[in-house]
Amino acid sequence: MSQPGWPAILSDGPVTLRPYRRSDARAWSEVRRANEQWLGKWEPTPYGTWHDLNSVAAFRAVHADLRRAARHGTAMPFAVCYEGRLVGQLTLGNIVRRAFCSGYAGYWIDSRFAGKGIIPTALALVVDHAFSVGGLHRIEVNIRPDNAASRRVVEKLGFRQEAYHHRYLHIDGDWRDHLGYAMTTEDLAGDDGLLARWHKATTPSA
Ligand SMILES: CC(C)(COP(=O)(O)OP(=O)(O)OC[C@H]1O[C@@H](n2cnc3c(N)ncnc32)[C@H](O)[C@@H]1OP(=O)(O)O)[C@@H](O)C(=O)NCCC(=O)NCCS
Repeated sequence: MSQPGWPAILSDGPVTLRPYRRSDARAWSEVRRANEQWLGKWEPTPYGTWHDLNSVAAFRAVHADLRRAARHGTAMPFAVCYEGRLVGQLTLGNIVRRAFCSGYAGYWIDSRFAGKGIIPTALALVVDHAFSVGGLHRIEVNIRPDNAASRRVVEKLGFRQEAYHHRYLHIDGDWRDHLGYAMTTEDLAGDDGLLARWHKATTPSA
């Protein structure tokens, strides 16, 4: 059964977000294995070796989990592509509807593609999508205080820092504090959406 907002393909210039495909296994494994040092510090504590958890074979289970969550309407898991190449992931997870209509965004990018504004573009696309056809009202992002790059992503897009969560998530071997950032539909009232706002902020005025 399809869920509001899923499946979807979103794009802006060279950045495309789409559901994973079975054929992504090799590219996913290559990117993940090449980025152990870059990603490990910020990811949930692994329950095995990075090498094994990010093998071509492991992708089958990862893909099945993501598809199941998407089918149940609790996640919108997007592969992030740049000029057609798989370079990262942005998942809107923990989606709860009824009186909450909220989801948590989590993301990563291949270090070889960092600093190009790909994830801010991806997050803006997903926020606009989630707030329109996705029917959500709030998007949250939880970030470790020392993750300067990730904090820049949400701050550049205008997310509001709302909370300090003590020992919130088990990341890289321990319970880590997180800053809670959020945006609601009201924050975009009067704008043409977050992507338009992001473009306005990044396009030099004539
Ligand atoms: C956080 C992350 C997703 C940002 O994605 P991105 O597409 O590189 O985002 P941006 O291009 O907007 O860069 C964000 C900031 O990263 C820093 N940055 C830029 N180039 C960089 C590079 N080559 N290497 C490291 N950091 C860089 C800059 O501080 C930049 O902010 P600025 O635009 O104000 O200069 C990426 O750094 C990443 O995958 N980190 C590891 C995983 C992670 O932290 N995930 C989020 C967990 S909450």
